[in-house]
Amino acid sequence: MSTLDITVLDQYSTEELLTRLDHGRLPRHVAVIMDGNGRWAKSRYMPRIAGHYEGMKSVREVVTACREIGIQALTLYAFSQENWKRPPEEIGLLMKLMEGYLKSELDLLLEQDIRFMTIGRPELLPKPVLQWIEKVETATRDCNKMILTVAVSYGGRGEIVDAMRAILEDYQQGSVTIQDIDESLVDRYLYTTALPDLDLLIRTSGEARISNFLLWQVAYAELHLTKTLWPDFRRRELLLALLDYQTRDRRFGRTPQPGLAQTIGKPS
Ligand code: IPE
Ligand code: IPE
Ligand code: MG
Repeated sequence: MSTLDITVLDQYSTEELLTRLDHGRLPRHVAVIMDGNGRWAKSRYMPRIAGHYEGMKSVREVVTACREIGIQALTLYAFSQENWKRPPEEIGLLMKLMEGYLKSELDLLLEQDIRFMTIGRPELLPKPVLQWIEKVETATRDCNKMILTVAVSYGGRGEIVDAMRAILEDYQQGSVTIQDIDESLVDRYLYTTALPDLDLLIRTSGEARISNFLLWQVAYAELHLTKTLWPDFRRRELLLALLDYQTRDRRFGRTPQPGLAQTIGKPS
């Protein structure tokens, strides 16, 4: 692929961006820290929930776009373990919104052959939300064009703690020995065991932190940080993120790949 400078890509139309995408080098697993809903609303003198509502439209558009482009797995950070510290009114409205999303999306997910999954501690969510999660997970169980995973009441450290507990239980029962414990075994005990390795992590709203998301899985993911607020992150911003990803030379500790290293970094 020829040199791509992400800063000049913005002059292209969305359809032109799509034609520049190399379908042979797509990330298999994309995750998003969907941030900036509150600031989006604040800048419009609207209540925070209006930002969350608008952000849900971005979820819909990004899910559909990923499915069309051929991304195998999309993981969205919807509610963190730490988000329980928010005011109860905001949490209540977020939960209602989540329930509404599940109700309204089920048919669309089935139509698009998308499997829905959650990671985190969904059992801590209010019962009606949990019931809808279970319903959508069950209904889409056999869908196989893409896996949409939504992280709810999720914390990366909590996930590692849960994995350690499960490994120790199996150790006590004799099905795991100390010699068995290696990286691939730990992988199998994580919430994400059914998903491909994380290739691309996107964070919106200009923040440059991980906020306790996919701590183990992020090890060699490429990061795409954008100032765009989540409610403004739509198909076009997704394409920019994917094209940015395709400019990266993923070395995994090795020396640069001759072809890629020469084109990237060379001023166009
Ligand atoms: C992200 O937007 C949504 C959730 C964390 C649930 P925020 O609500 O964090 O919006 P900002 O960061 O305050 O703008
Ligand atoms: C991260 O956003 C969590 C989600 C997007 C669900 P936050 O807005 O909660 O993160 P911090 O507090 O800025 O780190
Ligand atoms: Mg935030």
